[in-house]
Amino acid sequence: MSLLVVGATGTLGRQIARRALDEGHQVRCLVRSPKRAAFLKEWGCEIVRGDICKPETLPPALEGITAIIDAATARATDSLSIKEVDWDGKVALIQAAKAKGVERYIFFSILDAEKYPHVPLMEIKRCTEQYLQEAGMNYTILRTCGFMQGLIGQYAIPILENQVVWVTGETAPLAYIDTLDVAKFAVRTLSIPETENKTFPVVGNRAWDGDEIIRICERLSGQQAKVTRMPLGVLRAFRSVTRFFQWTWNIADRLAFAEVIATGKPLSASMDEVYPVFQIDPKEVTSLESYLQEYYGRILKKLKELDYEKSKFKKDSKRKIPF
Ligand SMILES: NC(=O)c1ccc[n+]([C@@H]2O[C@H](COP(=O)([O-])OP(=O)(O)OC[C@H]3O[C@@H](n4cnc5c(N)ncnc54)[C@H](OP(=O)(O)O)[C@@H]3O)[C@@H](O)[C@H]2O)c1
Repeated sequence: MSLLVVGATGTLGRQIARRALDEGHQVRCLVRSPKRAAFLKEWGCEIVRGDICKPETLPPALEGITAIIDAATARATDSLSIKEVDWDGKVALIQAAKAKGVERYIFFSILDAEKYPHVPLMEIKRCTEQYLQEAGMNYTILRTCGFMQGLIGQYAIPILENQVVWVTGETAPLAYIDTLDVAKFAVRTLSIPETENKTFPVVGNRAWDGDEIIRICERLSGQQAKVTRMPLGVLRAFRSVTRFFQWTWNIADRLAFAEVIATGKPLSASMDEVYPVFQIDPKEVTSLESYLQEYYGRILKKLKELDYEKSKFKKDSKRKIPF
């Protein structure tokens, strides 16, 4: 199968490219910056420069492609808005794919998107799901709700470095999942016809709230977390301010998403009927505890090595000074 991965420089996209290569697919990646995608080329992907917000760049990238796995989304730091990338860009990509006769389109949505019409990213995901379902292409929609990789910057590093961890007054438990596992589901869709024209949740094996994650990080890092709780009112006020300036719209939209978490309603789903379809053993899926354990194990070992190197360097340099 000749596969186009869109968003392959991102957290999930790179795992999809890696997994697809490992499973013997020919992988082409549509990237905005070939420089940022150098590692994908080294892995063996074909790199094509393109931008889903520049529709004229799409037909050459789609030449000879049989399936698309689309893991692109607006970057928080980008000048392009969520609407421009996640709606206008996706509509352009779906139209171009259909015009080129692409057979499969795999799209990542967010669990319960239809329940939050006032949250821009959720509403855009719901509309894109519908647009794709009506486009007349074989599609698979995978609805996830939070990647474990995001927990490193949000909790694991600040706790290790004794910095403040921000949480909203109430935090909804989320069934976080490792992007390596999401990639496994995504690539598996290509070889399982029963996944065609269907929507599946792809989430972790249990939901965790912020306080539970903080306790795990404290235990694994041996540090006590400095937690600051942000009331929902403050979050909303901050969102209105950021909404005011065009250059902070992306931040405002992300703060709106933070409100989903602050509702306290769990974002989780049963995977009981999903595992058999994808022929994946639930035991293969990484648990949040083992993910964080692995992270802290690695980072603490590195810190110990650095400490050792530093003290060795000090000793050596003392010895070398002859006076
Ligand atoms: N993160 C989560 O917790 C989460 C939860 C639920 C669903 N999802 C969904 O999962 C998917 C992957 O998310 P992620 O967190 O892995 O994303 P990410 O790390 O933010 O990466 C976004 C990717 O999209 C690319 N991109 C952005 N604008 C583009 C454009 N105009 N044209 C082409 N490519 C563009 C970026 O390329 P550059 O390197 O050029 O910027 C990057 O490769 C998205 O559909 C997201 O909505 C994520």
